Amino acid sequence: MLVFGLEGSPRKKGNTRFLLSAFMAEAENRGAETRVIHAHDMPVSPCIECGVCERKGVCSIDDKMQKEIYPLLRRAEVVVLASPIFFYNITAQLKAPVDRSQTLWSCRYRLGLNDPRHKTRQGLLMSVGATKGKSLFEGTHLTARYFFDAISAKYAGGLTYFKIEAPGDMEKHPTYQQDIGEMADLLIDPLIKRRKVLFAGRENRCRSQMAAAFAQYHAGDRIEALGAGGAPAGKIDPAVREVMAEKKIDMGFRIPRSIDEAVAQDKPDTLVAMGCDDPCGDLPGATRIDWEIEDPVGQGLDAMRKVRDEIEEKVLDLVDSLDARS
Ligand SMILES: Cc1cc2nc3c(=O)[nH]c(=O)nc-3n(C[C@H](O)[C@H](O)[C@H](O)COP(=O)(O)O)c2cc1C
Repeated sequence: MLVFGLEGSPRKKGNTRFLLSAFMAEAENRGAETRVIHAHDMPVSPCIECGVCERKGVCSIDDKMQKEIYPLLRRAEVVVLASPIFFYNITAQLKAPVDRSQTLWSCRYRLGLNDPRHKTRQGLLMSVGATKGKSLFEGTHLTARYFFDAISAKYAGGLTYFKIEAPGDMEKHPTYQQDIGEMADLLIDPLIKRRKVLFAGRENRCRSQMAAAFAQYHAGDRIEALGAGGAPAGKIDPAVREVMAEKKIDMGFRIPRSIDEAVAQDKPDTLVAMGCDDPCGDLPGATRIDWEIEDPVGQGLDAMRKVRDEIEEKVLDLVDSLDARS
C-alpha cells in the first residue's frame, strides 16, 4: 500500500519536510510503502489551460508530472499534501502540481470516469505557519479539499501547526508525535490490514491490469489488489483503456510493474496467475489460483470486451469466496 507525499517547502531542513518525514517513517513502521516528491526539487510546469484534458483525459505537457506524479497519485491510497503557509496558502512550487491535477479532475467530472481506487484513497493535509490568527489555514484547507476531490481521495483533514517559523521549531512541538500516531491509526492501519491479492500475468498490460482494477473498484476496502508481470511491458494495452472506459473505469496513468517489485513491499496472501507459467512461480505464504483466460491482445475490441466481462465475473466470485473465509 503506497503512501505518497507531495511537499512544497523550498527549505531542505525546514519544518514541513521534518513533519512529513516523521509521518512517512511512522507509515513505514506500520508496513506501508512510501514515496515523497519535493516540488521545489522537481519543478513542474504550471497548467496552461489548453483544454486537452477535458476532451481526452490526458495532459499536453510532457514533464515529471506526466511521467512520475500522475502515476503516483493513481497508485497511492494515502496522499499527503504538505506545505508551509506562504501568504495564506500553499507555496508556488506546490501550486503547479496541484493545478495540473486538473487532468484527473477532467477524467472524473468531464469524462465521467472513476479511478479504481476512488472508494479507498484518503487525503491528508500537513501545514505550518509562523503566526497564530484563526484563519491562517483556511485558504490551504480549501485548496486541499478541492485537490483531494480532483484526485479521487476522501479528505481526512489536516495536521496544521501555528507559530512554527525557524527551522527546528516543528521538532520542539509538544504534540506532533502523538498527532502523527493518531493520524496513522486512522489512515494507515485499516488499509494495511486488508487481505492482499496479486494478479500476475506475463506483461501486466492487459488481463492482470483489468483484474487488479476490478478488485480495487469492487472490494478496495477489503482487499489490497496488486497487479504485476514476469516481464512487464512499457505501458498498458490501449484497448484495455478503451473497454474499461465503457464500464466507466479509468485506466489512465497505470504502469505495468514487475512481480519482484510488487512483492518486495507487499506480501500477498493470494496469487492469481493469469496466463503465465514460469514467471509467476509460487510465492511463499500465498495460495496460488490459476485462471485460464484467453489472451485478447491484438484480437480486436469485441474479444477484449468478452475477456473484460469474464475477468469481472471471476473477480466478483473471488471476492465473495475470500469474504466467506474471513
Ligand atoms: C514568502 C513567505 C510567505 C509567508 N507567508 C506567511 C503567512 O501568510 N502567514 C504565516 O503565518 N507565515 C507565513 N510565512 C512563514 C512560514 O509559513 C514559516 O516560516 C514556516 O515555518 C516555513 O515552513 P518551512 O520551514 O517548512 O519552510 C511566510 C514565509 C515566506 C518565506
